Amino acid sequence: MTAAATALLFERTFGGAPAAIASAPARVNLIGEHTDYNGGEVLPIAIARRTYVAVRPNGRDEWRAASATQEGVGSFAAVRPQRSGQWWDYVAGVVNELAAAGRRVPACDVAVWSDVPAGAGLSSSAALEVAVGAALAELPGGTRSARAIAGDAWRAEVEFVGVQCGIMDQFASALARAGHALHVWCDTAAVEHVPMGDAVLIFDTAVPRSLRASAFNTRRAECEQALALLRARYPELANLAQAEPEQIREAVLPEPAASRALHVSEETRRVRRAVGDLKEGRELDGGLLLASHDSLRRLYECSSPELDWFVERAMRAPGVRGARLTGAGWGGCAIAVGDEEALAASAPELEREYALAFGRAPRIWLTRAEDGARAEACDSRPAAKLSSPA
Ligand code: GLA
Repeated sequence: MTAAATALLFERTFGGAPAAIASAPARVNLIGEHTDYNGGEVLPIAIARRTYVAVRPNGRDEWRAASATQEGVGSFAAVRPQRSGQWWDYVAGVVNELAAAGRRVPACDVAVWSDVPAGAGLSSSAALEVAVGAALAELPGGTRSARAIAGDAWRAEVEFVGVQCGIMDQFASALARAGHALHVWCDTAAVEHVPMGDAVLIFDTAVPRSLRASAFNTRRAECEQALALLRARYPELANLAQAEPEQIREAVLPEPAASRALHVSEETRRVRRAVGDLKEGRELDGGLLLASHDSLRRLYECSSPELDWFVERAMRAPGVRGARLTGAGWGGCAIAVGDEEALAASAPELEREYALAFGRAPRIWLTRAEDGARAEACDSRPAAKLSSPA
């Protein structure tokens, strides 16, 4: 259905059928926040919202890109594309990374269709980057592993678009698997798939993300400072997540370095506990999610009144086991886990009370762990998995 909508957009914009279509999902992180760029561990799932990308070589010396939600057709040069500040930078960035990796990709026409809300903290940009990489991998001679697609997408975000994110979002979008969470060791980029059948409620606070980018960069700098201070005492530390909580306490760092470091260290250890529970067939421990939120609020200072409200209010609903902010914070989304019917039943009240408290309409979705990037049929054939998932 959605691949068909993308094919239709392609046909209406450029004429004829696309040569390949692929899709990639948005993500929520179950636990492990602000650990990825500190060499720690994360545990995201792909969600039931995807971005579809249709491509076909156009025989020109420029790429053309159209989106179902944007006016007009964008374009960028086939050789050394420049950043434009426009949405198609995510396409150009991936093309640029493929060229840097020595791949010869013919200039293409590109059509994008998505039901991932932009700017909500669900990684709409990663979904687009990964879907572009996955679609180009379907062209003759374009074969690329899902892991390489994740790497291209991440470098596109950091080097071309210029956002200093960690690897979590692009890895989740490219490598996630239905019914599983993706455990990523961000120091080595090793991954494993951990069974995760629970439903997850996603609550978008609908708070604009204006502050997020600058606050994110400040936190990164604070973490680097904390690591430098810790290394004066423990030179063997390869990254901040490696520091044990006791080491951080003993080092008596100045604030805010001490709080930031303690969050990163303890949050990584919470990921390990969550993974252990899931592997042994236990459900995701709501207490770990609450401890994570509390740490993000007090030690990392990246929560907001809206996110705190949601966690507190969600925990009063019967059958809800745990809740926390997800993603960078400072607005964006939170999640809750628990009995699926209870989660669904809590939504209307949450919506009504949130609107009363903050004067904003939240968006609420129920999801399960979905598949990562995949090739889509250009006709009515069923979708295929990408060649090598990990
Ligand atoms: C953003 C970044 C991720 C990660 C999270 C916080 O979503 O893109 O790489 O750092 O924030 O966990």
